[in-house]
Amino acid sequence: MNQQLFEAVDNYICNLIATEDDALKATIESIETNGIPQISICASQGKFLQVLAKLCNAKRILEIGTLAGYSTIWMARVLPKDGKLISLEYEPLHAKVAAENIKRAGLENIVEIQTGAALDLLPKLVKDGTAPFDMIFIDADKPPYAEYFQWALKLSRPGTLIVADNVIREGKVLNENHEDDRVTGVHRFNKLLAATKEVTASIIQTIGAKEHDGMAIAVVN
Ligand SMILES: C[S@@+](CC[C@H](N)C(=O)[O-])C[C@H]1O[C@@H](n2cnc3c(N)ncnc32)[C@H](O)[C@@H]1O
Repeated sequence: MNQQLFEAVDNYICNLIATEDDALKATIESIETNGIPQISICASQGKFLQVLAKLCNAKRILEIGTLAGYSTIWMARVLPKDGKLISLEYEPLHAKVAAENIKRAGLENIVEIQTGAALDLLPKLVKDGTAPFDMIFIDADKPPYAEYFQWALKLSRPGTLIVADNVIREGKVLNENHEDDRVTGVHRFNKLLAATKEVTASIIQTIGAKEHDGMAIAVVN
């Protein structure tokens, strides 16, 4: 694959139509300064998530996997003033850095970060009778992706958009018996997605500055 070309085209798209402002740039810098892994989505994907949020007229978004709040900021920016984005994050340091970044971006009244393991927090959201979300972005640890999807369905309504990142993993998903549990995790998720009659779904391959991967997109019927 021509990684150099993919990177150049990604830069072209970002400079043209997905430019980062100071808050987004500072978020990327905060990841570096705090020794957090640079595993946020890229700017073109952030803008793509914005487009999807607009497309489904999102007022309430759930994100599973905050990191430093980079994707959170992209999505929260297209919510109305009375909108809400709840983001679930396991690592207290990531949650703390994300909260600072979200405040810097002026989104603290819209975004709520919940700290803990998503598989503990998701049942609480269901139990609390949280109103269904219009869009759900799954981007946390990969082994329980299938379980995250099942909880996402419980927190949805007809029309909810469910997006899951990193479901192709440089084509490693083609090997059903891969030894990496992140690969088998997304493989299990992809199979469940395909078998779930309650959604209309597809997967798009993603190429660019980051490695070859894929994003699953599903609409609840
Ligand atoms: C790929 S990063 C998220 C990137 C972020 N969505 C972005 O693009 O800016 C995955 C995040 O999920 C968090 N995470 C890992 N396991 C988790 C779990 N069990 N519950 C909640 N969050 C978890 C990690 O700490 C990490 O911050």
